[in-house]
Amino acid sequence: MAVLVTGGAGYIGTHTALALHEAGRQVVILDDLSNSSERAVDAVRSLMGADADDVPFVCGDAADVELVSRTIIDHGIDEVVHFAAFKSVSESVERPLAYFANNMGSLIGVVEAMAATDVRRLVFSSSCTVYGEPDEVPVTEASPTGAANPYGWTKLHGEQFLEQVASAGDLDVMLLRYFNPVGAHPSGTMGEDPHGIPTNLVPFLMQVAVGRLDRLRVFGGDYDTPDGSPVRDYLHVVDLAEGHVAALDALGSTPGCTAVNLGTGRGYSVLEVVAAAEQVLGRPVPHEVVDRRPGDVARIWAETELAERVLGWTAGRDLTEMLADHWRWQEAHPAGFGG
Ligand code: NAD
Ligand code: WQD
Repeated sequence: MAVLVTGGAGYIGTHTALALHEAGRQVVILDDLSNSSERAVDAVRSLMGADADDVPFVCGDAADVELVSRTIIDHGIDEVVHFAAFKSVSESVERPLAYFANNMGSLIGVVEAMAATDVRRLVFSSSCTVYGEPDEVPVTEASPTGAANPYGWTKLHGEQFLEQVASAGDLDVMLLRYFNPVGAHPSGTMGEDPHGIPTNLVPFLMQVAVGRLDRLRVFGGDYDTPDGSPVRDYLHVVDLAEGHVAALDALGSTPGCTAVNLGTGRGYSVLEVVAAAEQVLGRPVPHEVVDRRPGDVARIWAETELAERVLGWTAGRDLTEMLADHWRWQEAHPAGFGG
């Protein structure tokens, strides 16, 4: 099987490209490098023991139907994993047009190219953000959906678009709703390399630990949670990558459109994550509790039964392993792939 991985130079895309290769699939990466660098592609090829002929890289926009169609034909692509999107919640509030244009444009471009070339199997990067502020936890795939920002709407509209194309019989799709991916490849040679100052908890915390940033601000200590800080379902990016292999495998026997949560099913508070990181590092990480961040939900974690039943997948790596692997990468590459 040959898989096209759009956004394959990014954080989750590189780890998934590796997992697909390890599972025996041929991988082609397409990315416009708007939030990544070609060094990430070099890193993933090096972990595969592959060169540019084995794992081709196409630099371009996933919204470019002609480019994607040509890539599919040239490389005999059978299935697609679509990561290519912008992902910052705060940036999406400032630049909604850019977010709708890129996230919807790239998705429509990929689906059009698949239709033109008779490729039916697609895995789509969705997000737990589609559950908005849940009334009950854990959230199941049948929990009410909603969005609180333009980024979230692009994921929800993306899901709805794919459901309708699939129900017309043109596509088989897995909508994978990721919770909070963290960690890095255990080699320490590949990991998250966010442009600018990170907004996510673990990359920020690790940049404090490595001395790039002063202190972590813990957003809110007065939530209705055991220690007052918000609770999330953090999962190891390598587990998440393996979830994509399982999703592609399951698509053969799961026609239509299926939404599946990818999380561990257990929540940790921000202060628990900080304490676990301090344990891994063997030293304190400067932090202070400040006001809540607007738009944050108090608690969310996944019901994972469907992933287990439909994909045969569970997340096996624990929080300590996530943080130890993230730290190994960050310590070895304080400036990301740039150094
Ligand atoms: P990332 O920014 O590291 O990776 C996305 C990649 O897509 C980048 O390499 C970027 O250059 C590329 N890209 C963006 N627009 C493109 C376009 N039009 N054409 C070609 N390439 C394009 O982000 P990530 O964390 O790896 O996220 C991957 C996907 O997973 C995204 O769709 C994101 O919304 C989704 N997701 C991420 C998280 C998370 O916390 N990281 C959680 C849930 C869902
Ligand atoms: C986690 C917790 C913060 C930074 C986002 C998106 C979601 C999905 C995953 C893409 C929260 C707290 C954070 C900091 C902090 N992405 N925090 N200090 O908000 O759960 O989810 O990423 O789809 O859609 O919304 O992740 O890592 O930003 O925050 O205290 O400097 O850490 O308040 O409670 P979040 P996060």
